Amino acid sequence: MSDPYYITTAIHYPNGRPHIGHAYETIAADVIARFQRLQGREVRFQTGTDEHGLKMAQKARDLEITPRALADEMSGAFRELFDRLDITYDRFIRTTDEDHHRASQAIWQAMEAKGDLYLDRYEGWYSIRDEAYYDESELIEGENGEKLSPQETPVEWTEEETWFFRLSNYQNQLLELLNTPGFLEPESRRNEMISFVSGGLRDLSVSRTSFDWGVKVPGSGNHVMYVWVDALTNYLTGLGYPDDTTDFSKFWPASLHLIGKDIVRFHSVYWPAFLMSADLPVPKKIFGHGFLLNRGQKESKTLGNVTDPSELVETFGVDNLRYFLMREIAFGQDGTYSPEAIVTRCNAELANSFGNLAQRTLSMISKNMDGKLETFELASDDRALLKTVQDACCTGLPEAFEKLSFSVGIEDWMKAVYACNQYVDEQAPWGLKKTDPERMKAVLQTLFIAIRDLAIAIQPVVPTKATAVLDQLGASPEKRSYADLADNGWFDILVAEGHTIGKPTPIFPRLEMPEVEAA
Ligand code: MF3
Repeated sequence: MSDPYYITTAIHYPNGRPHIGHAYETIAADVIARFQRLQGREVRFQTGTDEHGLKMAQKARDLEITPRALADEMSGAFRELFDRLDITYDRFIRTTDEDHHRASQAIWQAMEAKGDLYLDRYEGWYSIRDEAYYDESELIEGENGEKLSPQETPVEWTEEETWFFRLSNYQNQLLELLNTPGFLEPESRRNEMISFVSGGLRDLSVSRTSFDWGVKVPGSGNHVMYVWVDALTNYLTGLGYPDDTTDFSKFWPASLHLIGKDIVRFHSVYWPAFLMSADLPVPKKIFGHGFLLNRGQKESKTLGNVTDPSELVETFGVDNLRYFLMREIAFGQDGTYSPEAIVTRCNAELANSFGNLAQRTLSMISKNMDGKLETFELASDDRALLKTVQDACCTGLPEAFEKLSFSVGIEDWMKAVYACNQYVDEQAPWGLKKTDPERMKAVLQTLFIAIRDLAIAIQPVVPTKATAVLDQLGASPEKRSYADLADNGWFDILVAEGHTIGKPTPIFPRLEMPEVEAA
């Protein structure tokens, strides 16, 4: 194992139940984590909940419970959802965890020692929904003339004594960082941030005194840290910071912070500045993905279109949901989903194409060859098919996934699946049984190799179903990584003369089209 890879999602406010956007981001991160593991890298994957701040405190007050009780309940709901989504995180962090308070205070002290913190008075706008300070010039006007944040959330005028961070000192370093190729993607986000930073940076208020639900500022009585200071530090806490641990030296700086496009400023401007101040390396990459819309609309209580992601799992199955989200939406852009779109996509590609391919091939091997493989000679048609499959599995898909272009990679994979189905139709192995049984065996075994490769390659997206296919093929559990793809010595698979496949049972049943509700 070499080349450690550390991936994080944003940590989510547990002020309500998780929604589809949380599922989307975490699934994408899990696909990346699994993909990197299959490439042989040592992966560390962290997600969690962001439990401090005014938004949590207010919600708890409305519900007449303590913020802690609210956080306990909702954080549990996130964890439950992530289990149902087969998320392979290494740590689920809660910012109320004791080690996280320690890490937050340590980075604070490092910034203070640098001379980057000073006491003053904050007077300005604050959005509780965004947990963000805004400059007057950034605000927009709502329908009734009220002031709104650029994210269209309410803002309130705030005046209090706070600690400030000398963000203004970091303008040049930040511009240089933002201009580093690959640091912030997609490109549109990078341009936004470059213009934000070029416009001049004001020092940032980093503590609050009007409430106490947060991490205490060391040695500063009634101050708690601004929630984003402690939240961002979660990425360090999980590696053991401030202790000089092996995990920290192995995995920091993070390979990728995967976040939503609305919180790019915190991650690509504030966070690197805090790290520079504390003399810590900055993350290698930040990627701001798009929003997921429900039939083209943002989900909201007012519209009554909020979907519980657990119900989607219940209805369609976890792997179908994962496949749909990664396949349908160009990662980085906004995307839209609907039950019909999920059914259409999964039926066409998983059930009718890949599932059908696996099912008919395995049944024919089972029926006509007693489920046993033999050594055989490849004809030129067979070689051509395997070349197509190997190009998709060894090059097309991995290269696209490395760039986070999931839909492009899966499309390449899908084209190889189509090529296999076309080959089956052309070769018509069922008709060869009487006329040329040797040729029939060659065709079926060529397909066996192709399916094995296709199943290995698609594991990050549909882990359970890909595993089921590999089990039915009788593929050795130790030989399922990308290094075991057929072009790295696919003859070995066949030399195992007498290799026996498992009992073929359908793995990708067709989904039912949901009843359309009357409007
Ligand atoms: N809780 C924030 C949000 O959902 C994200 C925090 S990510 C962190 O918008 F890294 F800063 F913690």
